[in-house]
Amino acid sequence: MEPTGLPSAVRGSIHIESHLDGTSQRSLADDALDGLTKPFKELPPKHLYDARGAELFDRICELPEYYPTRTERAILQERAEEIAELTRAVELVELGSGTAAKTRVLLDAMQAAGTLARYVPVDVTESMVRETAEALVEEYPGMSVHGLIGDFERHLVHLPPAVGPRIVAFLGGTIGNFPPGSRRRFLRGIASLLGPSDHLLMGTDLVKDPRVIQAAYDDAEGVTAEFNRNMLSVLNRELQADFRPEDFEHVALFDEEHEWIEMRLRARREHTAFVGELDLEVHFAAGEEMRTEISAKFTPRRVERDLAAAGLELVRWLTDSDDVFALTLSRPAS
Ligand code: AVJ
Repeated sequence: MEPTGLPSAVRGSIHIESHLDGTSQRSLADDALDGLTKPFKELPPKHLYDARGAELFDRICELPEYYPTRTERAILQERAEEIAELTRAVELVELGSGTAAKTRVLLDAMQAAGTLARYVPVDVTESMVRETAEALVEEYPGMSVHGLIGDFERHLVHLPPAVGPRIVAFLGGTIGNFPPGSRRRFLRGIASLLGPSDHLLMGTDLVKDPRVIQAAYDDAEGVTAEFNRNMLSVLNRELQADFRPEDFEHVALFDEEHEWIEMRLRARREHTAFVGELDLEVHFAAGEEMRTEISAKFTPRRVERDLAAAGLELVRWLTDSDDVFALTLSRPAS
């Protein structure tokens, strides 16, 4: 029998591991040194997400123009039960968990299926992992949380051994941030982590009217513009740079050939910025653009080919009635 008060089984344990120990700053320095000295300047989108960037991204998700979040959530609400039944998963590993808003829909379904044992959030934003862990062990009695603070491109080697069938969720369409070759390499890495009874649940934004996509990445309120320019504040703070955000204009450009949208920062005037940490002068011509993100849009065929190239086979294609966004459930090909 349990002693008085709440039985200890009710509140699951929390274990959090950080793998950021300075390596993230190193990677920012390396990425900035590479990216700012290329003939076409670019910086990887992962550096957009400091605490301020994560907050701005949350605001983007609420914008009327930004359809992916609410569409994906609706699909999940519609199909989570099916996902839970089909996978019989006892744990959910979530790459880029953020505030775990959509996660709860999945956890609810796993709890209803009676299988839920553990949630493993992986995110670079430390506060997100800690706060989410605290909140979720309260909300899901008996579920434990094993959080990884780190970069899902590098730190998945630290995943704890599975406690049973596992869903690895990569939601939101973030897979679209990888250019096609790295996308397949990344998926191959994920596939190598999956056992025969594990599944990948991945969100992909679908190809549609370019005007709709364009508006989603250039909202009327200017939140996306602020999110984009936040990259410069990250460089200023972390690498002692002197970029002036007001010297750069937000650009969202749909590339019809590749079917991806790019975010760029366009210099409003010719100037030279200095990155102290790198002892690097960075010259911008007037109107010069620096790429800060690509976000690929998918056709069903593109998703399936990418999965197949990674050794994964499609189990379920889950989409909304207007084919705006898709979730795919896949597993290691037999
Ligand atoms: C978080 C990568 C899915 O690509 O749509 C939102 C980021 N960029 N607005 C996306 C983003 C501009 C978002 N992902």
